[in-house]
Amino acid sequence: MAKSSPIKRIGILTGGGDCPGLNAVIRGVVKPAHDNGLHVWGIRDGFEGFVEGRGNMLYDKDVSGILAQGGTILGTSNKGDPFHFPEEINGEIQIVDKSKEVVQNYEAWGLDALIAIGGDGTMHIAHKLSKMGLNVIGVPKTIDNDLDATDVTFGHDSAVYVVSEALDRLHTTASSHHRVMVLETMGRYAGWIALHGGLAGGADIILLPEFPFDWDFVFEKVKRRHLVGKKFSIVCVAEGAKPKGGKMVVKEIDKKRTDPIQLGGIAELVAKKIEEETGLETRYTILGHLQRGGSPTPYDRILSTKFGTYAIQLAMKKKFGRMVALKGSNITSVKIEEAIGKQKLVQPDCQAVQAGKAVGVCFGTDEC
Ligand code: F6P
Repeated sequence: MAKSSPIKRIGILTGGGDCPGLNAVIRGVVKPAHDNGLHVWGIRDGFEGFVEGRGNMLYDKDVSGILAQGGTILGTSNKGDPFHFPEEINGEIQIVDKSKEVVQNYEAWGLDALIAIGGDGTMHIAHKLSKMGLNVIGVPKTIDNDLDATDVTFGHDSAVYVVSEALDRLHTTASSHHRVMVLETMGRYAGWIALHGGLAGGADIILLPEFPFDWDFVFEKVKRRHLVGKKFSIVCVAEGAKPKGGKMVVKEIDKKRTDPIQLGGIAELVAKKIEEETGLETRYTILGHLQRGGSPTPYDRILSTKFGTYAIQLAMKKKFGRMVALKGSNITSVKIEEAIGKQKLVQPDCQAVQAGKAVGVCFGTDEC
């Protein structure tokens, strides 16, 4: 593409784990693109489909009625990093570099730019492809809300809604049976889902990866509640939480994935220990992918629409190598290279933690 000529054809993909709001972003890109005479090429199943050359033109009818639909109409994958691509060679999985195939397909499809919607892993890949000459624009998504360069990622609010609703439901059964209920949330190495969901759902104890917890604080809180006549307790634990001196609970290691570590299982341990130590009947629930599925909340629909429409504006202005971001109440953009690798983690002095403490939430530590 000559520097002065306008862009004509844009590729779009969704990478990594899905989350509510992806379709709203796709719609936010495609509709204004068509209004401005651009073609949008949908790449199937994230970078996996990019490497394998799977894509097709997106028409208006494809994005009609998808605003409220969860998942992604394009499909996604967390196993298709072109620079770290799992391939079966002689019956064995080997990791190979397939980035040249991506560049070839970009050219074969006649793309002038690529809009990559994804989390930290997708942004890393986007940055490397930028360095190879592709015109890339990033749109940040993740239920985990752990990207530092944007105040919020879409999908987070929808996940928090699911956690909050689950806690409401656990409250009624916990109170009927005088039990302790432990709910495990997703979030990987960041505690935002458990913190915000736990606050919204009135959890008594919230355990986060950022603050390794002291078992005694947890037991004490449950016992004290019981002593003063509160016959149930609710614990909200992030999948990445760990006791002081202990390790995160790993469910599986899969080297085909962009992040090979799959967390999960801390709720079972927490429930077992609480029951052993307090003698109170304790149950646990792992919310899992319920947090990623289903329709986006109105907040996420609005944020996704703003992100998508901003991304296509950046593309038309040829502001490549940038990631859309929310700063305060403004949508803006940052350099992708500045956005990657900086995780946003819960800090002890953040307002949500302080508010939690003020209403009596135990975070399992005296460090915040
Ligand atoms: O990053 C989003 C997320 O849902 C994490 O919260 C969770 O640890 C992980 O993805 C689960 O991944 P998968 O769907 O591959 O099991």
